[in-house]
Amino acid sequence: MTVRIQRLLVVGLGLIGGSLAKAARERGLCAEVIGSSRNPETLEKALANGVVDRVVTSLEDIAGELGKGDVVLIGVPTLTVPAIVNQLQAILSPEVTITDVASVKGSVVASVRDAYNEIPQQFVPGHPIAGSEKSGVEAANSSLFDDHRVILTPLPETGADHLQRVRDLWQGVGAVISEMPVPEHDEVLAATSHLPHMLAYTLVDALAHMRENREIFRYAAGGFRDFTRIAASDPVMWHDIVMANSDALLKVLDNFTDHVSSLKEAIKNKDSAHLLGVFTRAREARNHFAKMLENKAYLEPMTQTIDYRVAPAEAVTGDIRVPGDKSISHRSIMLGSLANGTTEVTGFLEGEDSLATLQAFRDMGVVIEGPDNGRVTIHGVGMQGLQAPVGPLYLGNSGTSMRLLAGLLAGQAFDVELTGDESLSKRPMERVAAPLRQMGAVIETAEGGRPPLLIKGGQTLKAIDYKLPMASAQVKSCVLLAGLYAQGMTRTTEPAPTRDHTERMLTGFGYPVERHGAVAELSGGGKMTATPIDVPSDISSATFFMVAAAIAPGSDITLTHVGVNPTRIGVINILQMMGADLELTNYREVGGEPVADIRVRYAPLHGIHIPEDQVPLAIDEFPALFIAAACAEGETVLSGAEELRVKESDRIQAMADGLEILGVRTVPTPDGIVITGGPIGGGEVDSLGDHRIAMSFAVASLRANGPILIRNCNNVATSFPGFVALANNAGLKIAEETR
Ligand code: S3P
Repeated sequence: MTVRIQRLLVVGLGLIGGSLAKAARERGLCAEVIGSSRNPETLEKALANGVVDRVVTSLEDIAGELGKGDVVLIGVPTLTVPAIVNQLQAILSPEVTITDVASVKGSVVASVRDAYNEIPQQFVPGHPIAGSEKSGVEAANSSLFDDHRVILTPLPETGADHLQRVRDLWQGVGAVISEMPVPEHDEVLAATSHLPHMLAYTLVDALAHMRENREIFRYAAGGFRDFTRIAASDPVMWHDIVMANSDALLKVLDNFTDHVSSLKEAIKNKDSAHLLGVFTRAREARNHFAKMLENKAYLEPMTQTIDYRVAPAEAVTGDIRVPGDKSISHRSIMLGSLANGTTEVTGFLEGEDSLATLQAFRDMGVVIEGPDNGRVTIHGVGMQGLQAPVGPLYLGNSGTSMRLLAGLLAGQAFDVELTGDESLSKRPMERVAAPLRQMGAVIETAEGGRPPLLIKGGQTLKAIDYKLPMASAQVKSCVLLAGLYAQGMTRTTEPAPTRDHTERMLTGFGYPVERHGAVAELSGGGKMTATPIDVPSDISSATFFMVAAAIAPGSDITLTHVGVNPTRIGVINILQMMGADLELTNYREVGGEPVADIRVRYAPLHGIHIPEDQVPLAIDEFPALFIAAACAEGETVLSGAEELRVKESDRIQAMADGLEILGVRTVPTPDGIVITGGPIGGGEVDSLGDHRIAMSFAVASLRANGPILIRNCNNVATSFPGFVALANNAGLKIAEETR
């Protein structure tokens, strides 16, 4: 609905009122823009600078003429608003829309109620977040509101058409509108705007009072200048804001003073951990804000979609080190945070999934430095040292983060909410919630056992003996991590071997874990000691290059420093069964995990029945293995892999759909697929936002006879940052396109 604005009367032609008048006029938003001010000089300048069509010296001259479709915008300092409201009440028709731009909404609403004895329908309180340290009509700038936020705080009494008219006005000058209740607005602004202004004014005033102030100011360049820019703002305006919002401002000032006192103490006591903690947390938070303000992704869906346009390629060659193992990276943050002492991690995967885990622990008060070229330093807080996060922990696309954290957090003293992106929000969480409830945890899920997870703190957990209904390392790890906080011995029994990084790393951190066959058990109440972690390259990422070399004649590639934990090498076993030429050399152990270099040369592949015991050992590698199957002679049959249907996408269906489009015959089954090898064509496939589907179809280009356009590849960054550059270096021809 667009409600046409007839006349716009701007009362008070300062920076905000003047800029709005000018912008509305230049963009032809209303039939006429009229300005009013007590100051004749301001009116002259407004006319001379094209800010308004005409001016009036007193409200009486014009207010009585206004009617339906007209808008009066009050743009005077906050404490002058009541006087204007009183005047308007006496002379303005109830059909005229009234809005304002004051930085405090509670006091404005109170003045309207005083004048009218009620809130009239015509009143729409508003506040553009678009100031500048400049003031006066001469600073009026018609693009001041472009892409800036305007907060409207409509009241229950506010009429819908009046609200719409004010929305149209702000949208018309390029602003982005949000709505919130009046008290919330005043609290948020006290913290984000009013407090920083008070600090800037006070800092400059304090330095100016020092005896050597000339010397100080002479050298006070960078930091001082950046921090105090807003101390050049209009003093009357800020005086009024402080008076009008004193309650909320005092609250945030008290909180801030407490923080300054702790900082003082830390400086006095040479408390490095405290100082580093404040600075690293603040820097991360600041970077986060910067990205938010630039509308860039930060573990949030990106605004732009990346597609891969992949041209047919010949072969892959060279030595490649793929990024660090995702599963081990997650666990290094979790266990390092709970250990006593400082854990140095190298080879950490700087992908969005493991960064989500890292951010979650920062949100719970852990000081974590980095990542910097795969180096992360975690200042462990001990088993009981986590703090309640201020909001939900956002885990992006990462199922591992959510399931393992659910276990770790079930036994904490505080409540916590775990949320994720669209894909994670569809994934099953009952598989972890159910055993945790058996242990005494209080957990709510959304409908159908989906995220978000609400975990109630302060519960006493008791150990359980849990027989896993499915082969899942995430569920096993979740129960074992909850077991750290449970009374007694927690035992897990798995139906088939799954990755055992949790058990290995707990042992590395000095936490006793007993293991025999399918059983792992540990007693609650122990502690961990920091230990260095060297994260090997991720075999799941290396897989794309293994398959690439295996299917493309002329290929010869060596993947270095790859983790070859026996619970992860299904892909090696399966490729070898299919006839691939794979050679493991330089076998060694780093930090409790076996590592090797893997050389792969092209050799013709043939289809096989994949043994079901290999499925959990290759669970993340099937999308790429399906490409190998498509290039193999004959049929490849997979069964016992229903878990693939609940990964980041339904990987059986997503791969079957894509392969069909490329001309490969597939027959999906409830728990697997049958793929008949044959020629691969070009075409457009959708990765459905699943990183591994996207990378698998990129590898298919080595045998495709036409280009492949792969849609929705943003999430490759969750597990394999730098994939395109590394792949192109090896011989692929991927062009990234954004839309
Ligand atoms: C993971 C376990 C696997 C795997 C996932 C990572 C882990 O999931 O698919 O990418 O780090 O524990 P499931 O254990 O649910 O099969």
